[in-house]
Amino acid sequence: MISKHLPLTDLHRHLDGNIRIQTILELGQQFGMALPANDLESLRPHVQIVEAEPSLVAFLSKLDWGVAVLGDLEACRRVAYENVEDALNARIDYAELRFSPYYMAMKHQLPVAGVVEAVVDGVRAGCRDFGIKANLIGIMSRTFGTQACQQELDALLSQKDHLIAVDLAGDELGQPGNQFVGHFKQVRDAGLQVTVHAGEAAGPESMWQAIQELGAVRIGHGVKAVEDARLMDYLAEHKIGIESCLTSNIQTSTVASLAGHPLKQFLDHGILACLNTDDPAVEGIELPYEYEVAAPKAGLTQEQIRQAQINGLELAFLSDSEKKELR
Ligand code: HPA
Ligand code: ZN
Repeated sequence: MISKHLPLTDLHRHLDGNIRIQTILELGQQFGMALPANDLESLRPHVQIVEAEPSLVAFLSKLDWGVAVLGDLEACRRVAYENVEDALNARIDYAELRFSPYYMAMKHQLPVAGVVEAVVDGVRAGCRDFGIKANLIGIMSRTFGTQACQQELDALLSQKDHLIAVDLAGDELGQPGNQFVGHFKQVRDAGLQVTVHAGEAAGPESMWQAIQELGAVRIGHGVKAVEDARLMDYLAEHKIGIESCLTSNIQTSTVASLAGHPLKQFLDHGILACLNTDDPAVEGIELPYEYEVAAPKAGLTQEQIRQAQINGLELAFLSDSEKKELR
């Protein structure tokens, strides 16, 4: 259960992985694009996971239609705005919304920095209209290689005052983190925090790289940490946060079953792990489902679920006074 006495956070939520099916239909029509189906229920299996995909990369391909319909910057702004409304509807008090401007810009060759501005604008308007707090995390999509990531980073840093952190997402196996050491030096020099998708498709060495070479203070997923006892100790001791996304990990075939998910072991070990969604529209879930259904299936006790909610607040990229204001 979600505690009503604590703020509810979602720290790992891709806004370009959370585009409403209805919005995909409307934007597809607006930009004259041929979609694989023209009504909500027929389109659903093309943009939402029906059963677990065989790999992370197969899972990520389900995000492609959502960004393919972003035909202009106003469409990017709309999607960002709707994401804040979705967060409110999921009872979230504070969201860290992340996005890859290169991925959003790619299909229609939109200006990447323009996409960042449009997303910043849409989220700001959403926060004003829906009365919740949100911050933005810029993503470098490693899938497209180091050069594209530099272009993406340049666009993100041009708006750095509107971001709190930079992340590395996409094909973890194909594009190892050690190629991005120079990118993340620029991120840290710009005064931004670092969180990295690691230990999802690749093993514990990818998490060590993220922490020691890229400067990550939080790790997205990190499920493979259980394979390395020294890493488990390190995470607890150095308060490196684990952004767990239970349903996502099933749907990417990162773990075979919720009962075998390592989140419980993380919490038992004193690691600061929290519950998050990842790509809610693509997964067909929302944050309350992760708390009320997925977490109990993963064997968490009620006390551990509460601890995960507390950890979400502790790990948020907010100042202490901002955290107090959420309560
Ligand atoms: N892993 C890597 N990249 C992503 C993910 C993920 O789970 N979701 C959206 N982009
Ligand atoms: Zn993610």
